[in-house]
Amino acid sequence: MEKAAFHSRYETYRARIEAYLDTLFTERTDWADLYEAMRYSLLAGGKRIRPVLTLEFARIAGMEWEKALPVGCALELVHTYSLIHDDLPCMDDDDLRRGKPTNHKVYGETLAVLAGDALQPEAYRLILTAPGLAAEQRADCALLLAQASGADGMLAGQVLDTLHAPGTEGELGEVHALKTGAMIAGACMLGVAAAGGSGALRAAAREYAMQLGLAFQVRDDMLDVCGDEATFGKPIGSDKEEGKVTYVDLLGLEGCDALVSACTEKAVAAVAPYDADGFLTELARSLAHRNQ
Ligand code: IPE
Ligand code: IPE
Ligand code: MG
Ligand code: MG
Ligand code: MG
Repeated sequence: MEKAAFHSRYETYRARIEAYLDTLFTERTDWADLYEAMRYSLLAGGKRIRPVLTLEFARIAGMEWEKALPVGCALELVHTYSLIHDDLPCMDDDDLRRGKPTNHKVYGETLAVLAGDALQPEAYRLILTAPGLAAEQRADCALLLAQASGADGMLAGQVLDTLHAPGTEGELGEVHALKTGAMIAGACMLGVAAAGGSGALRAAAREYAMQLGLAFQVRDDMLDVCGDEATFGKPIGSDKEEGKVTYVDLLGLEGCDALVSACTEKAVAAVAPYDADGFLTELARSLAHRNQ
């Protein structure tokens, strides 16, 4: 796919995702401070890679992609909660996220924890009331999101990452698959599930996402060393400060680059039969060199 066509479709998806998210938590209530803290992180300008993937897989599976907006955005709510909690002093203790002060720096730890908590059930509300989906698709999507983010998914990765001191390539691979791969895989499979797509497509979506997820987290670890804070939108050197061993320690920056390229090409191969116009291919390759 031509780069211009890729950017144009990405931007179309991204703009609809932003507009959808901007409709949420706007009512004035006595607990408007909670809504404000939720919206602060939700609308802070993330890349929206996960919901973009949901929309693209829904389109490939034959659905009008707009109907998958509630489920893609539901996963983005859960992703955003995971970032709010990931930045807390008891976790990675970071002050900058999406180019802005972290949630707890602005609202304090109590409200940051509660805003993260609130985003989780609200995500399931979006799925379970999605106007364009049948009851069976809603249930399928809710289960996928629970699996991706739950105790055997992203949260298992966060526990291993923060409390089990992974140090070998095998251990780090497991952490990355869980803390990052599971949510990216969830995003891709949600698109297929919302559309009621085939098992074969769902399996290809999962394989694409797990390879992409590893590449994505290795690139994240590289940028934590060699990135530019203003572009990355997060502090540089956070992993070292927290005493974490990363792929950069084990393979060096060049070795990481080679691993990212290899995973990216495996991701591309996994969806080749379905990626007729090359959007997923271009997305994977552009993320391999991302600086944001
Ligand atoms: C950050 O994810 C957490 C990781 C898995 C590295 P993103 O890099 O997708 O963050 P946003 O959503 O664009 O802020
Ligand atoms: C976090 O990994 C993945 C999550 C589940 C939030 P990191 O801790 O490396 O993510 P960043 O660098 O803070 O975004
Ligand atoms: Mg972390
Ligand atoms: Mg972190
Ligand atoms: Mg990181």
